[in-house]
Amino acid sequence: MELQVALRARRSVRAYSRQPVDRDTLVGLLELAVLAPSSMNRQGWAFGLITDPARMASIEIMIKEQLLQQITPDSPMARYRETIESDEYSVLHGAPAAVVFFTRPGAGSTIDVHLAAMAFLLAAREQELGTCWIGFADGWLKSPAAQAELGYPDGYAPLGLIIVGHPQSWPESKPREPLELVFEL
Ligand SMILES: Cc1cc2nc3c(=O)[nH]c(=O)nc-3n(C[C@H](O)[C@H](O)[C@H](O)COP(=O)(O)O)c2cc1C
Repeated sequence: MELQVALRARRSVRAYSRQPVDRDTLVGLLELAVLAPSSMNRQGWAFGLITDPARMASIEIMIKEQLLQQITPDSPMARYRETIESDEYSVLHGAPAAVVFFTRPGAGSTIDVHLAAMAFLLAAREQELGTCWIGFADGWLKSPAAQAELGYPDGYAPLGLIIVGHPQSWPESKPREPLELVFEL
């Protein structure tokens, strides 16, 4: 798949088949992701993998509980409360696997990790795997409870969680707003 095609066809996928995604596939995608540029070539990224369906299910429950606790009536998230509370709503969209992106102790440029994450999304698309960054997981992910559950060492800072799986179908591309050029010289 050409890069331009992958860029146009990548979409956040929110419905997955039950087909698993194995560790080697995720590691292969991450090996491509770390070809991203990094500040002073410090490669300040590290990763965690979840491929066990039982752990995906239990983590999903923890994320949902934390998310609902965090939504106060005056929070900007308040309008999502009813949706999130519903048993039908899956924060992890039924994906079979997820990758957690971290900054490494002492080398942690969050920009490096974001660049690697974007490369990961495109590499996955090229292999017909769907992805979605789950910002709703952030509150839980950055909590001590998540460190205990995931079992990663001190000093690593989780930046985000991206679900991965085989899409039930590819969503239509979403139109973007017109380019905004704030200066031209
Ligand atoms: C930082 C970040 C957080 C996001 N959090 C969520 C989320 O919690 N749940 C979700 O379903 N989609 C989430 N998304 C996906 C966005 O909604 C999606 O990228 C956006 O609507 C554009 O659609 P596209 O990715 O299909 O082009 C997130 C995306 C980003 C970059």
